Amino acid sequence: MARKIKSAKRKSAQRVSKLANIVILGSGGWGTALAVMTAKSGHSVTLWSPFEEEIAELSQTREHKKLLPGIILPPEIALTTSLDMALGAELLILAVPSFAVRQTARRLRERLSDVTVIANVAKGLEEGRLIRLSEVIEEELPSARVVALSGPSHAEEVARGIPTSVVSSSRHGSAAELVQDTLMNPCFRIYTNPDIVGVELGGALKNVMALAAGVSDGLGLGDNTKAMLMTRGLSEMARLGVAMGARRETFAGLTGVGDLVVTCTSMHSRNRRFGIMVGEGVPPKEALERVGQTVEGYKATLAAHELAKRKGIEMPITECCHRVLYGGLSPRNGMYALMTRPKTHEVEEHPWF
Ligand SMILES: NC(=O)c1ccc[n+]([C@@H]2O[C@H](COP(=O)([O-])OP(=O)(O)OC[C@H]3O[C@@H](n4cnc5c(N)ncnc54)[C@H](O)[C@@H]3O)[C@@H](O)[C@H]2O)c1
Repeated sequence: MARKIKSAKRKSAQRVSKLANIVILGSGGWGTALAVMTAKSGHSVTLWSPFEEEIAELSQTREHKKLLPGIILPPEIALTTSLDMALGAELLILAVPSFAVRQTARRLRERLSDVTVIANVAKGLEEGRLIRLSEVIEEELPSARVVALSGPSHAEEVARGIPTSVVSSSRHGSAAELVQDTLMNPCFRIYTNPDIVGVELGGALKNVMALAAGVSDGLGLGDNTKAMLMTRGLSEMARLGVAMGARRETFAGLTGVGDLVVTCTSMHSRNRRFGIMVGEGVPPKEALERVGQTVEGYKATLAAHELAKRKGIEMPITECCHRVLYGGLSPRNGMYALMTRPKTHEVEEHPWF
């Protein structure tokens, strides 16, 4: 036993963080925060965007004035619109919105023959086919070892070095560990978890619950209501996750309850801010425009609703959000419908039955 512990300690000591050449694709809030954090750890970092204006402005100001005001990009961060920079990368981080993951991965295929590790940080599902984003990347880049890096991590806080913990998950254990070893620092703690299905679904589905929590706030309801939405929301997230092959415990971890807590309670959450507007009576399309950035929960609601239907899983909060966002149901009537559902028990396996 003692030998086992010693050898495990030796192994983890061997996996000390090494300096790497990292390319981050997507220079929005999250991509930029990750660039700042990794550059401060001494890595060589390139931040890419397909948009000339975005890179021109960042090059000029060295600051994301709208998304990360006050965070100055260290001079070590190179900025580019050329995907050729990805050629020599030891680690590629995909930080584009879910809808752009496939097209970005496809563009990489034209350039990369032998991709090592790609860490995707977007949280969502592919529209239409409803597959996970790691599956999308694997389809486009079959030789890639894909990692999902997810958890409660607002860009605004990570960029400021506020202690944060996330999860690195992959079908390839060595790839998950490489991301852990490369990106972990005293402000950014990374755990590994082999359950990539649970990790990715947690990240995508919690955005639906953030929306619901926002709607509840927009309606002026209380802390009790939010606690109910979060807890019952977690329960339906796990129900769908398990039906799709995830482990229930993963939903009790950072990428499940952890991300749910942060996104349902923080003003940094765009999904929640969007929900608040909808709760206050702003039509969903207009609220999307007003937020003006990626609101992943809007499409995730559509995806979760469809998956629940396909799998025959009951997801009342998701269903209600779907009717509010896409079916014209008023938020107040939605809440009434949730509260007046037929009575039921709390846990899945009920001892009386
Ligand atoms: N912001 C956060 O705190 C945070 C934290 C964890 C995870 N995420 C996830 O990371 C992803 C990106 O979030 P964000 O907040 O950085 O979004 P964002 O809207 O701020 O930025 C996305 C960036 O992706 C690039 N992009 C946009 N459209 C593109 C396209 N069609 N093709 C290629 N590239 C494109 C652009 O550089 C853009 O700035 C989302 O899935 C989000 O859920 C965000």
